Amino acid sequence: MNSLPDAGNGKVTVPDILNRKTFLAAHLGDTSRRIACLSAYDYPTARLLDEAGVDILLVGDSLGMVVLGYESTLPVTIEELLHHARAVRRGAQRALVVADMPFGSYHVDLSEGLRNAVRFVKEAGAEAVKVEGGERRIELIARLAEIEIPVMGHIGLTPQSLHALGGYRVQGRTPATAEQLLRDAHAVEAAGAFAVVLEAMPRELAAEITRELSIPTIGIGAGPDCDGQVLVLHDMLGLTFRPQPKFARRYADLGREIARAAQEFGADVRSGRFPSDQESYHARPAAPQERLLARKPN
Ligand code: KIV
Repeated sequence: MNSLPDAGNGKVTVPDILNRKTFLAAHLGDTSRRIACLSAYDYPTARLLDEAGVDILLVGDSLGMVVLGYESTLPVTIEELLHHARAVRRGAQRALVVADMPFGSYHVDLSEGLRNAVRFVKEAGAEAVKVEGGERRIELIARLAEIEIPVMGHIGLTPQSLHALGGYRVQGRTPATAEQLLRDAHAVEAAGAFAVVLEAMPRELAAEITRELSIPTIGIGAGPDCDGQVLVLHDMLGLTFRPQPKFARRYADLGREIARAAQEFGADVRSGRFPSDQESYHARPAAPQERLLARKPN
């Protein structure tokens, strides 16, 4: 495991995320350095999350469902993700920016996957990419590590596998599937990933994976024993329109707040309460001679 010093200016780097694992392993019970990760899709939220001290901003392909209104993450294109990753990059000073590789951008052939990952680094300023899948992705992860693009793995419920999994279901509940997830976690680590997302699995299994790996685990619906946690921003802010999974704790109800503000605005416009005189510009009192000159025909 790497133990490079951090950049010295508070900037969260890939080696810093790896060092958190060393710290957490060495200080069992001290959870103060757990990794806080949220998804982000635009400049203002990236700035707010960055300034609030979130460690990792993940430009997730959840973009498709929570921002673009798709039914699943499958239709998200690389151009859409690049566009949003650039905006997040502009808003992030301190946090590590990780871009999710969308479905189809690394599935068909290895060199296409590598080229697309390079685009995220070159064109969007991403500092790492995330790919879904365990053992199936070892070649891609190893090649990305070789060309020095840090990779975050993602195992368990991988939403891009929606059709193969037959729905969004908790994974690893039987001994055989739990064994497979353990193998996936080890494969992702051995291939060179610097962290791995564990999504929707029993907390006992996530705890076992976390104990066995020397890279940090970042859980979502995987219980409290991971080295970090990630949530989809719109879920935690109450900006979604679907029933939420039980792990998606709601920290704010911005949906209700936005609706209230829009209703109030509409009522003010219709009643003439908006804008007020103070919210209007006023003409400068012009000298009578200036006005005469302005009126004079040429
Ligand atoms: O797309 C996303 O936001 C994600 C997180 C849920 C891990 O993959």
